[in-house]
Amino acid sequence: MGSSTVVEAVEVVEAGEMLDVVEAGEMLDVVDYRLGSSGAEQERLLAQCELLRPAAAALLDTIPLPPRANALDLGCGPLGVLDLLSERVGPGGSVTGLDTDDRMIGWARESVAELALDNVEVRHEALPPAAAAEAVYDLVHCRLLLINTTHPRRILGSMAASVRSGGWVAVQEFDWATWQCDPPHPAWSRLKALLTEVFGGDVHIGARLPGLLSEAGLTDVRATAHAYYWRPGDRYQTLLLSFAHLFRDRLLEHTPLTPEELDALTGALQEHLEQPRTTVRESLLVQAWARKP
Ligand SMILES: C[S@@+](CC[C@H](N)C(=O)[O-])C[C@H]1O[C@@H](n2cnc3c(N)ncnc32)[C@H](O)[C@@H]1O
Repeated sequence: MGSSTVVEAVEVVEAGEMLDVVEAGEMLDVVDYRLGSSGAEQERLLAQCELLRPAAAALLDTIPLPPRANALDLGCGPLGVLDLLSERVGPGGSVTGLDTDDRMIGWARESVAELALDNVEVRHEALPPAAAAEAVYDLVHCRLLLINTTHPRRILGSMAASVRSGGWVAVQEFDWATWQCDPPHPAWSRLKALLTEVFGGDVHIGARLPGLLSEAGLTDVRATAHAYYWRPGDRYQTLLLSFAHLFRDRLLEHTPLTPEELDALTGALQEHLEQPRTTVRESLLVQAWARKP
């Protein structure tokens, strides 16, 4: 699956339709994670785990788990919510972390060892569609996985299939709709629009989570959302610029931007974000959870 195929699809149809096209065509199993697995990405994800920890803890606290529960974190990255799940299932329970990237797996195993999470195992695996007999989990969770794939329905279907009757699926994803700087700036709007085209997944998937959970045959669907604000000096205030840097090659390959235009846009935006009164309202973190009948 060449990455350019996804970009073409994003350019010609609405995001939701694009996902259907990809799913119907079974064009790929795993999209390479476009933010990569560099040391910088490990550090970014671990810092993000800290930032999102209170919201994740609040989400997991609303989900009743039986004694000695089995929980799964799909696409756990270097930590995900493995530590939070470990606490909640207790010593008699078990937690599995799955990821498809070797370096992420290595880092997750390091985190598990450092934190002495004795009830957690990390494996290199995508979640295959489960037969009813394999539906063993009391809770299957993923965070910021679906936004990075072109086949969220298939992943959610596998998650739902892996949960036992009465168990839970919980998902946390961003919706870029709220991501804006204040005062507004044309360089922000243009870069965000171009990044939306080349990102590779549906950047508004957060808003679709409750509907997708219902479509996966789950009931008692609930959702909530969190917004974060950043000032100059906060690391996430410049995240759009970081993405422009990370996606530079794709921006130049798949949009009409020339290198000079891209440099001018990022330069203008950097200057704007450095102004003492420029704040950034982050993407909305949507949390949705539902039960298997
Ligand atoms: C943005 S990171 C999120 C990591 C973690 N969930 C967190 O919240 O910190 C996305 C992770 O999903 C993994 N991934 C991508 N596609 C996957 C798939 N089909 N199955 C399992 N993991 C996948 C990537 O390797 C990456 O570690």
